[in-house]
Amino acid sequence: MKDIQHILFVCTTCASVWLDGKRVGSSGGEQLLQQLQELAISWELRWVFPIQGVECMSACNRSCVIAFAASEKLTYLFGDLPVEESASAILECASQYYTKCDGSLPWSERPEALKKGILAKIPPLNKWAKLNIAKEHPSS
Ligand code: FES
Repeated sequence: MKDIQHILFVCTTCASVWLDGKRVGSSGGEQLLQQLQELAISWELRWVFPIQGVECMSACNRSCVIAFAASEKLTYLFGDLPVEESASAILECASQYYTKCDGSLPWSERPEALKKGILAKIPPLNKWAKLNIAKEHPSS
């Protein structure tokens, strides 16, 4: 998997508290990101599977939200992750994702915290892009 780029996205705007149109304090997503970064200090994949905070992934009513993405793999979006109890399960699931050639994460193999709350499973871009290019240009 060394040649494939992986990334764990964490929504930092999830579970925000708003007052008069401004965010107050740190959001649940920021807290989850911090927990993941602290836990990842001792994670064997820390150098090959970066953790990236991002703003809203459009699943706001299902906070907290994270995503696993990699070139040539399925992309997964998970929600409903409690701030305080999810970090180790997320890294465990990220490790599973890393070891699979296509990134597939069957329900039965996922950690308990990620068995529910799956919001999207998006096919790998490169596979379908290649197939569609071949259809349009049969000689390629
Ligand atoms: S605020 Fe997290 S998905 Fe929108």
